Amino acid sequence: MKKPQTITIKTKINPVPADPLSRRDFFDKAWKWIGVVAALEIIGMFGAFIFSGKPKRNIAPKQLLEAGPVDSFEINTVSAFMGGRFYLARQADGGFIALSLRCTHLGCSIAWIEEKKRFICPCHSSAFDISGEVLNPPAARALDYYPVLIENGIVKVDIGTIIERNTFRKEQLQYA
Ligand code: FES
Repeated sequence: MKKPQTITIKTKINPVPADPLSRRDFFDKAWKWIGVVAALEIIGMFGAFIFSGKPKRNIAPKQLLEAGPVDSFEINTVSAFMGGRFYLARQADGGFIALSLRCTHLGCSIAWIEEKKRFICPCHSSAFDISGEVLNPPAARALDYYPVLIENGIVKVDIGTIIERNTFRKEQLQYA
């Protein structure tokens, strides 16, 4: 008589899959997202640079500050308006410019030194002439300025609008 055969069926059970988001996957994804965010920032900065135009104006609603009558400012003089954070400088040709107090190097407050006829920054010794032009580095740009309006013989400064520039140009002056 034939012996009954025993059949053994082996079923291979696959191991339980690892955690769907392994550490390695997590870091791979994180790096991809960081790359995407960095790329978007670079595109944004590039766009801002391309479309910004010069000079750059940071505009807030007009805030006119009356500096005084035109004749009260002598030619080739500088008057400080600390409350408005500017110096009103009257040039040799009679033109006015309202210069920001902030040094264009790292933002310290500059001082007008009458004997030397120049602005000097106490932090790293940058110097600027009466028009705000750089005379001495490390500052690389002329002082920023505010628009000047002259109405009925009164000099007014719009302290809500600051204009950045690289260098002084005559068109930046305002005449009575
Ligand atoms: S902050 Fe003015 S020279 Fe550096």
